[in-house]
Amino acid sequence: MKTKVAIIGGGPSGLLLAQLLHVRGIDSVMLERKTKDYVLSRIRAGVLERGLLALLREAGVADRMEREGLPHDGTLISYGEEMFRIDFTARTGHAVMVYGQTEVTRDLYEAREKAGAVMEFNAEDVVVHDATSDAPSVTYRVAGQDRRIDCDFIAGCDGFHGVSRQTIPLDVRREYEKVYPFGWLGILSETPPVSDEIIYASSERGFALCSMRNKNLSRYYIQCDLSDKPEDWTDAAFWEELKRRIPAAQAATLVTGPSIEKSIAPLRSFVTEPMQWGRLFLCGDAAHIVPPTGAKGLNTAASDVHYLYNGLRQFYETGDRAGLDGYSEKALARVWKAERFSWWFSNLMHRYPAQSAFDLKIQQAEIAFLRDNGAAQQALAENYVGLPY
Ligand code: APR
Ligand code: PHB
Repeated sequence: MKTKVAIIGGGPSGLLLAQLLHVRGIDSVMLERKTKDYVLSRIRAGVLERGLLALLREAGVADRMEREGLPHDGTLISYGEEMFRIDFTARTGHAVMVYGQTEVTRDLYEAREKAGAVMEFNAEDVVVHDATSDAPSVTYRVAGQDRRIDCDFIAGCDGFHGVSRQTIPLDVRREYEKVYPFGWLGILSETPPVSDEIIYASSERGFALCSMRNKNLSRYYIQCDLSDKPEDWTDAAFWEELKRRIPAAQAATLVTGPSIEKSIAPLRSFVTEPMQWGRLFLCGDAAHIVPPTGAKGLNTAASDVHYLYNGLRQFYETGDRAGLDGYSEKALARVWKAERFSWWFSNLMHRYPAQSAFDLKIQQAEIAFLRDNGAAQQALAENYVGLPY
């Protein structure tokens, strides 16, 4: 098979890139290790920055998001019994859109199918060849059959556990990592959200987050130990713990119900440099991971897709390679700012296992500073709604 861009990975990064290229008449082939149903069963964050909204519109996949998404003009931060609001629109002129990543992915799959996209599922043993030559290729196996794609460029959109990053030799690649000593236990429940806006809650017992997908679907998280298992937590125990971490007024109105999903995610910060090796370009989780505090995972993947899409477009429309050559540098400059924000917001809101009394006081003083200081609120708001591309 021959194509312009071989895309490894059928998560949101690979799908969005493929769809944007399709709109500009640039053909691609997408390889996914799992099935579409498997990809759509993963539940991730649900806050979209304006840059991603613009990309979804450009890709022609924004209709359902515009209809069903919930624009949010601000967010709430609580600590103990106190709560304050950060007004995004007043501080930055921009809002965010609450719309699940799973729904974004579903909309993208629908558009790809409608466009007659070439997508190979259950692709095994994907291998990148000759990435630093002018004629790269990708080989893989489907249902016991060996296959090969010859292409101009390869987009490595295969997530943290993919093969693309590993293709870059160790003497070229440098990785930066921070692992946090806690996880997030999350549940989805068919109950009305406790608040119209997302609540980030810092408490003596640890962090909690009250989020939502729609008027009757809520997403809640509590900070948990890394050794915890979802099955250790009954629904009743989860609700009880959540109530203890949010202000009493919210706890009193919280509507509980059976969980329809329950999972634990560890928290990690990770960046690999460079994000480009010859004709191989890394996008999204293949190159970087952020802790979920602030919901920057999908949004940072989207900024990579923006830079790569524009570089490819420039190349195919004018022959100019400048956008492609500058990809890694441009993408990483923004990635590190999102890393910094997610790390900062995580540190601010969580309890650390061996936190000293001094560290706790500093954390409390920083939250009080954020509550009282307009410039601090503006800094949070600008990062939350998304730094410009
Ligand atoms: N070959 C083909 N596909 C692969 C391979 C491989 N060797 N390895 C992994 N994949 C697939 C995975 O099955 C997955 O569907 O690549 C896809 C990567 O998708 P994500 O992990 O969702 O990563 P990405 O598309 O970059 O999305 C970034 O979405 O998943 C969230 O937390 C993530 O919010 C972040 C954003
Ligand atoms: C979510 O809705 O799942 C969510 C929202 C905000 C976050 C993380 C996750 O910071």
